[in-house]
Amino acid sequence: MEYKRSILITGGAGFIGSHVVRRFVKAYPEYRIINLDKLTYAGNLDNLRDIEKAPNYRFFKADICDFETVYDLMRQERVDGVIHLAAESHVDRSIKDPFTFARTNVLGTLSLLQAARLCWEERKYEGCFFYHISTDEVYGALEMTRPEGDKDGRGPYGDLLFREDTAYHPHSPYSASKASSDHFVRAFHDTYGMPTVVTNCSNNYGPYQFPEKLIPLFINNIRNRKPLPVYGKGENVRDWLYVEDHAAAIDLIFHQGAAGETYNIGGFNEWKNIDLIRLMIATVDRLLGRPEGADLDLITFVTDRAGHDLRYAIDPSKLRDTLGWKPSVTFEQGLERTVRWYLDNKAWLDAVTSGAYAGYYEEMYGNR
Ligand code: NAD
Ligand code: DAU
Repeated sequence: MEYKRSILITGGAGFIGSHVVRRFVKAYPEYRIINLDKLTYAGNLDNLRDIEKAPNYRFFKADICDFETVYDLMRQERVDGVIHLAAESHVDRSIKDPFTFARTNVLGTLSLLQAARLCWEERKYEGCFFYHISTDEVYGALEMTRPEGDKDGRGPYGDLLFREDTAYHPHSPYSASKASSDHFVRAFHDTYGMPTVVTNCSNNYGPYQFPEKLIPLFINNIRNRKPLPVYGKGENVRDWLYVEDHAAAIDLIFHQGAAGETYNIGGFNEWKNIDLIRLMIATVDRLLGRPEGADLDLITFVTDRAGHDLRYAIDPSKLRDTLGWKPSVTFEQGLERTVRWYLDNKAWLDAVTSGAYAGYYEEMYGNR
């Protein structure tokens, strides 16, 4: 079949990437979707079982740092759009091992950009050609000028929000590596004229997130009656967005975003960690039929994360006003859906936590 477009999505076996791949494969049967992923500990083909046999889908195992392989694939597939999500994504891991983050997030992105530029120069596709998925963490941390929040004890917890023109001030090795890669993407636009877009999104939550991140880790621990390690006093604030709303924003921006632009993505949904943790406990207990408050005793305050950013909060009004995007679910709806998913998908959680999926790819596909 002659496809209308051929789109390379990197990191498609990870958390957000799998939602983006699924959305594109289903919504655009006229597009060929190539998912390139190295399958690190965070990459899991189980996340894509429902679409893996779709005729417009191809999985390709590769490292974005491997320039020759990636360039050959892009030429062979006549790729005319790249959505780049592959990255090392966990802040705590970056504190332990910053070099892996520099390698994948900085050098890997540069290598992918170079391959994309050579392809783009051969045929000069119109529209957004290279779309980099980035994070609000590049902006650094915001102050808590209103620690009590509004009258309902909810956010915003400060007067300032991250805007697209907020200066970069990353603190962790993870955010420093993402900031660096954002700069390279913009440099490829400014220097070579390649049509690029960068989006900076707030904390995502939802199905298929690796249970090292706060929400799936804590749901799993509550389910198993294990301690909940709350960093510091649990006063840090994060701005949470349901992953499918992020995927919808990516779809919209890939098709309608302007080249050279940056868009912030978020849902005005700030939560102090400790309040969110209490809400998760209440939700899990209710769904499991446990007495109210039965698992509050699992809360365990532990040593704070080094360099722990106090508050993130995104101003997404540019995206709302220019392209008309807004989240489709409230936080209460999204969290309930998420808790149900993890409770219903015990096998997925157990496989991921036991590492049993690691040999899956070789077993299924061999070394192609
Ligand atoms: P994830 O860790 O769940 O998935 C990352 C994927 O990238 C995995 O499938 C992994 O195998 C793959 N990968 C890692 N190194 C690779 C390499 N060298 N070559 C090829 N593939 C490689 O991450 P996520 O949470 O889904 O995040 C995806 C992207 O979105 C990242 O770029 C991250 O910085 C960004 N982001 C994440 C969030 C969030 O809350 N999770 C928020 C904003 C932005
Ligand atoms: O803001 C976007 C970022 O959100 C993404 O770019 C990152 O890829 C993603 O991992 C996420 O980073 P955070 O560090 O904010 O997410 P994490 O789930 O690790 O932690 C959320 C908050 O919960 C943070 O304040 C630290 C705290 N925390 C986390 C863990 C894992 C705890 O208190 N205990 C924990 O065990």
